[in-house]
Amino acid sequence: MIASIPLQPPVQTAAGTFAADVLEGLTRPGQKTLPSSWLYDDVGSALFEVITLLPEYGLTRADAALLRGAAGAVAEMAGQPARIVEFGSGSGSKTRCILEAALASRPVEYAPIDISRAALENCASNLRGLPGLTVRPVEACYLSGLAETLAGRGTDDRTLLLFLGSTIGNFSPDQAATFLRSARQQMRPGDSLLLGADLVKPREQLLAAYDDPLGVTAAFNLNLLARINRELGGEFQPGRFAHEARFDQQHSRIEMHLRARVAQKVWIEGLHRIVSFEAGETIWTESSYKFLTSDIAEIGAEAGWTIAQQWVDHEWGFAETLFSA
Ligand code: AVJ
Repeated sequence: MIASIPLQPPVQTAAGTFAADVLEGLTRPGQKTLPSSWLYDDVGSALFEVITLLPEYGLTRADAALLRGAAGAVAEMAGQPARIVEFGSGSGSKTRCILEAALASRPVEYAPIDISRAALENCASNLRGLPGLTVRPVEACYLSGLAETLAGRGTDDRTLLLFLGSTIGNFSPDQAATFLRSARQQMRPGDSLLLGADLVKPREQLLAAYDDPLGVTAAFNLNLLARINRELGGEFQPGRFAHEARFDQQHSRIEMHLRARVAQKVWIEGLHRIVSFEAGETIWTESSYKFLTSDIAEIGAEAGWTIAQQWVDHEWGFAETLFSA
């Protein structure tokens, strides 16, 4: 009997389609990899929201607390922006206080940019209704979404760009530099960037944050295999893989891997391929770089941004850095 699996249409991102990235990442020689952006389908995004509630994962709480305290100063130092653009919309809850501070002095257009329509809709519905706010969600990858948002902008409407939650940490240092430079090139003098970044902290604290005792992060990671099953007709048995978090001190990054518990061959119908795993072999699914406060200033400066102010949460270890163009 031939199983018929309804294949969903491919999702397009800067990196390529899901199918192309899975094919490339799982059939290359050496270390298998999958880009971390594919962790965030509807299930993955919901699991990430749960991660942010875990006691071991203080990143989001530290980010939100800093933003609450700094919002007024950010709006003022950014010159009372007419437009606030955000890379990665999330649920919008962290952004709310920045929007409220900016709206205290003028109407604001808010453009969240995300490849996930579900995330955009969730964010827009949480923020709609703030008096003076116009929400214009952009379903695109970050840099092309920014270009789309800024096309045809007026002559003296300042823009504040938000890149929160340490998503910058998912880029390699080279990618981060190129990314921030490209964003800078699309912006004008007078514009600002608020960058949230997780700081270096003790290994045990990091490992607990990325391998929680409830297994929520494990589910978040293993969902990538379930997503391949759902969208590409894969036959992964997620129980045959184990979640693994590692800290690479030299590169100052947490890595998430999926480790094959046993040797196995997995058919992926949508790719017309069998993928083979040796026992113990891993798929590297995410890097999450951890920064020194001085690293952040340096990365921004190299990309053409001038540091204006930095706010640091020393309890968890997180920094918001405001740059001007
Ligand atoms: C949303 C990218 C900041 O790297 O900490 C959480 C994603 N991965 N647990 C992070 C994540 C595992 C998260 N970022």
